[in-house]
Amino acid sequence: MRIDIITCLPRLLDSPFSDSILKRAQQKGLVTVGVHDLREYANNKHRTTDDYAFGGGAGMVMMIEPIDNCITKLKSERTYDEIIYMSPDGEMLTQPVANELSLKKNLILLCGHYKGVDERVREHLITREISIGNYVLSGGELAAAVVADAVIRLLPGVLNDETSALTDSFQDGLVAPPVYTRPAEYKGWRVPEVLLSGHEAKIAQWKYEKSLERTKKRRPDILKGI
Ligand code: ADE
Repeated sequence: MRIDIITCLPRLLDSPFSDSILKRAQQKGLVTVGVHDLREYANNKHRTTDDYAFGGGAGMVMMIEPIDNCITKLKSERTYDEIIYMSPDGEMLTQPVANELSLKKNLILLCGHYKGVDERVREHLITREISIGNYVLSGGELAAAVVADAVIRLLPGVLNDETSALTDSFQDGLVAPPVYTRPAEYKGWRVPEVLLSGHEAKIAQWKYEKSLERTKKRRPDILKGI
């Protein structure tokens, strides 16, 4: 898989991809993440990528030309399944959306900044808009990193234990059960006996019951007919 991220602040994306799971996924060749600095696609003297809004109003607007130049260059190199604009008024990122995107081959994530992008970008250059929540961030970069993380960890071979993405919260419509590690007793607080029993069927049943109990209590909104 390949994910190309277009941004006017590329340094914001340095660290999310240079550690842990996302770094290893790239080293193993399971994903290529390209970060593209919009300023390099600005054909003006000062390499500006934003300008005042027509009609007035506070805040700058990202210009269409550098974005079009960058997308056109990327599209000349390969075919993209989706060109996604990160926006607080886009479709909400959920586990099913991440699962769907993880099946694609090439994605572009376009990060907005300031007051956002010239509307013609949204009308003509992108295929989809995604929000990571009902709040406004300073820009789309952190949102793009969240989408990329949620997608990349689902790619086969990225997680060491292949089953571990399947037991994530939300993956089966339930939140994950509690987990424990050594010591079995700490300050008198004991790990549930069943987890120490070695009885696989009983452990699986316990985990399911805890997941269900937790989902009912904490996230009844995701419990659909279970
Ligand atoms: N850009 C600014 N806020 C955002 C959000 N909540 N989701 C996606 N992109 C954004």
